[in-house]
This record gives sequence, structure tokens and C-alpha cells, in this order.
Amino acid sequence: MNFGSDTTAPAHPLVLEALARVNSGAEPSYGDDSGAVRVRALLARTFETDDFDFWLVASGTAANALALSCFCPPHASILCHHEAHIQMDERGAPEFFTGGGRLHLLPGEGAKIDFKAFKDYLDYFDPQFVHATPPAAVSLTNLTECGMSYTPDEIARFAQRARAASLAVHLDGARLGNALVRTGASPAEMTWKAGVDVLSLGLTKTGAMGCEIIVLFGKARERFQELRIRAKRAGHMPAKMRYLSAQAEAMLDGGIWLELAAHANRKAGELAVVFADRGLELAWPVEGNEVFVFLPEYDENILKEDGARFYAWPGGSSRFVCSWATTDADIAALRAALSQLKRR
Ligand SMILES: Cc1ncc(COP(=O)(O)O)c(C=O)c1O
Repeated sequence: MNFGSDTTAPAHPLVLEALARVNSGAEPSYGDDSGAVRVRALLARTFETDDFDFWLVASGTAANALALSCFCPPHASILCHHEAHIQMDERGAPEFFTGGGRLHLLPGEGAKIDFKAFKDYLDYFDPQFVHATPPAAVSLTNLTECGMSYTPDEIARFAQRARAASLAVHLDGARLGNALVRTGASPAEMTWKAGVDVLSLGLTKTGAMGCEIIVLFGKARERFQELRIRAKRAGHMPAKMRYLSAQAEAMLDGGIWLELAAHANRKAGELAVVFADRGLELAWPVEGNEVFVFLPEYDENILKEDGARFYAWPGGSSRFVCSWATTDADIAALRAALSQLKRR
């Protein structure tokens, strides 16, 4: 009953097999490995384009902060939701990597940026006014921190307005696979076709050991050399890059990452039914692999004593996350534990 986070799941066996496969002989280092060539081909197939560059890193925080630092100078800002991971959970990494760039926080339900608030801010902002910090990028998160998904049309609406104001569009796709499965959109539709310039493509939560991909699309490729320089300077150019490539290859080959995300989403759907059967209210609709349920009137300790792992979430709900490794037995055990739940 480990619903603490998808990050608590082990790496998928296919990842370990891929690591073992590349673990012999000499390979060029620092990103020039033969695996990187295969990853490039897999990304081209996945995103239906050759017009991109990419860089592999081991954490989502590194992916976000490095990606954003290529688009936001020290005297500018990044627009994001006030609950965005880059704001709440990265210990100032975007500000640090940009060398002083600010996050400008916007409201919105379900951790989705409210489009009107975004538009109003850009309409009001005067780039000639030297005193105010000008926005250089907008960062959207899919799935959001409340487990909700943007559709490609919603992203395109933000991107269109952002482009008119010369802002770069960043997508934090730590759980992009879950959003794609939910919406039925293709990776291309959800990213460059919708106007995304730079993507943090998460594979760790999906099933990798530690592998995220920064993808620069189209005109944003101009920043690739800068990205490589920044990666090197920040210590994100590991010598034996082949082990990151192997993870990416294992996840992307045959669309395994989407199969694993689909499994996690299905289990979250089953969990939502379990909660509904107990008459418990959800904080947000389940649009991916995360379920937010209100338990405040209940003695949650019973669940915890039975071995359930989950987190209290801001706003008063409890967050339960499913992963590729969530089993029928986990769901059944939670159902049984819930039947013991008593009002305080
Ligand atoms: C939406 C989102 N973005 C980025 C990250 C950062 O990932 P990491 O913990 O690997 O730095 C997370 C991790 O929970 C996340 O949920």
C-alpha cells in the first residue's frame, strides 16, 4: 500500500536489463555514446519531428532549472502557478540557475494557471517600464501538482499569448506520460505542435531509475549550446552518460513509458472507486495517477498502522499516488483497511 509517491517505486526491470546491456566495453563519454544516437531516433519517432535537441539529466529539478535558465536572464521572471513544483519544491533552483531570475506566481484551480490571470498580467505589463521585472518565460506543469491534466488546446492558448509577448513556453512534464494517456493526445500534439519550446520530459516517475530529458524544439534549438555549457557548469554532464541513455532507451522503445503510465492511471482510477464506495470526497477529479481525498474527519492512523503510505496535502486532502508497480493487491489492501476507518 505504498501510495506515498511514484518516486518510491523501484526502477522497471526493463531499465535494469538495458543498463546491464550497455555495461561492457568502451563508449564515448559526456553524451557522445552510441545510446544517445538511439535515444535521438526514439525521440524523433515519439515526437514525430527531427527538429529538436535534447540533454539527459538525472533529476526533474535539474531538468526544470537548466531548461528555464536558458530562457530567463537574471533580470527577468518566469510565470508559473503558485503551487508549481518549481516554486514549492525546488529550493530556489530556478532562481539559482538563472542567476537571479524571479518566479512570478499566478492563481488557478487545480494548480492549472488561470488563463485570464495570465493574459491580464501580460496585457498590463509594459516591457518599456524599466523598474518592473519583465517576464521571459511561462512554465506549465502537466500533470499539475493537483494531478490534473492540461489538454493540447489549453496549452496552445497559453503558448499563443506567450509568443505574442516574446515569452518562451516551458512544460514541466515530470508526469507527461500520465497526461498523454489521460487526454489521448500524442506527444507531438501536447508539446511542439501546441507551441512548447522546451520540455522537461520525466521518465523517473514513470519507471526509470533516474532519467529526465530536456527537449528543445524548433527555434529553441538555438539555445542548445548554451544548455550544454550550463549543464557542464552545473555538474550535469556526467562522464558515463551511457547509463542515462540506456534508461531513456528502455523507457521510450516501443512506447513502454506510456504503457507504464497507463497502468498507473488505471490503478488511480480504481483507487478513486474504492474511496467513492466509502463515500469519501475527492479534492480534484482524477486525471492521471494521483488521487487527492479528504479524510480529515477520519482516523487516518488506522490506515497508516495497516501500512498505507500517503501524504497530507496543502488544502486539507491526502495524496495517494499510483505507479507502474501498484498491484491489485495494493488496491484490495487499501479497500480492506478503509473498511476499518472510523470517524474521529
Ligand atoms: C511536477 C514535478 N516537477 C518536477 C519534479 C522534480 O523531480 P525531482 O524530484 O527528480 O527533482 C517533481 C518531483 O516530484 C514533480 O512532481
